[in-house]
Amino acid sequence: MNAVFTDHIRFDKEAWQLQLLDQRKLPSHEEYVICSTLRQAISAIQNMVVRGAPAIGVTAGFAAVLAAREVLAETQDSQLFTTTLENRLHELSQARPTAVNLSWAVNRLRRVLRQHQDEPPKKILELFLDEALNMQAEDIRICQSIGANGGSLLNDGDCVLTHCNAGALATAGFGTALGVIRGAIAQGKKISVIADETRPFLQGARLTCWELARDQIPVTLACDNACALLMQQGRIQCVVVGADRIAANGDTANKIGTFGCALLAKHFSIPFYVAAPLSTIDLSLTDGSAIPIEERPAEEVSHIFGQPITPSDVAVFNYAFDVTKAELISAIITEVGVLRPPYASSIAWAFTKGLLQ
Ligand code: MRU
Repeated sequence: MNAVFTDHIRFDKEAWQLQLLDQRKLPSHEEYVICSTLRQAISAIQNMVVRGAPAIGVTAGFAAVLAAREVLAETQDSQLFTTTLENRLHELSQARPTAVNLSWAVNRLRRVLRQHQDEPPKKILELFLDEALNMQAEDIRICQSIGANGGSLLNDGDCVLTHCNAGALATAGFGTALGVIRGAIAQGKKISVIADETRPFLQGARLTCWELARDQIPVTLACDNACALLMQQGRIQCVVVGADRIAANGDTANKIGTFGCALLAKHFSIPFYVAAPLSTIDLSLTDGSAIPIEERPAEEVSHIFGQPITPSDVAVFNYAFDVTKAELISAIITEVGVLRPPYASSIAWAFTKGLLQ
């Protein structure tokens, strides 16, 4: 297997540049988008240059560094620096609504700011960079632990269905759902993968297939609506997906279409696993009903590669996520262990063990 792929989120400390592999262009082009300002970083998150809940969180850490540098150029006054930077951090936290890792990451930087507000702004900039780099390194370690914990749930010879991309590209490296697959393979098991194409943004076809092929992990692409047939044919032994936000009771928001996979898995008695770090769990929400569901531009559905596929005046639904009820989830795989129902208590237990609180 290749070394952990981490090259998609890079911070150049000399140039003060965030360099993001443009995930919109994969698999045909490996190009980077350079962000030197907070606005550019927010736009990269909104326009899906970088996507996937933990990757958005790590990117937000570096975006906060860019924000701190910008504010430092505007003022040396500590109080004005703090209030201006707080406002910019708020703006950053609003870039996309569903993945809670974004506000989780911004809150970490906010804590650094509040704990050190008596220090000179230049010092705070250094501390921001340290924290962003820590979050990046920490996310890779967390994904590796998720992989080791979840790998033991898979059996030698299993074929795993995954939806969207919860891989290295969606994290700082290694992945959550794909981390579980990598973890099982590292344990000596033969695992193959069926990747849903994941309309409309095609994260499965473009990104999951790209990174699994790169690691020589056998992958077969299927269109989203083949899921029921493939399960009926006995081709799928379990489903493993990532998450954008998990409520305290285990209800899980993930890429649109995940809920349908979970219902089908239940029908065919196939285990349905969610793999996610504790930073994706939002303890402030008792259940999934309050998770904000992002609606994205209609053109993502009505057009393919810039070409319309429907009459120009047709109405479009483009919900980017759906919520899978906890009762459909066989286990939630985290860095501290495999959580089983009832999730209210297993999640509460996980936070007593977690490194991230
Ligand atoms: O819209 P996206 O591509 O950001 O959605 C990504 C997902 O839904 C992933 O499955 C989720 O963020 C988990 S990534 C480890």
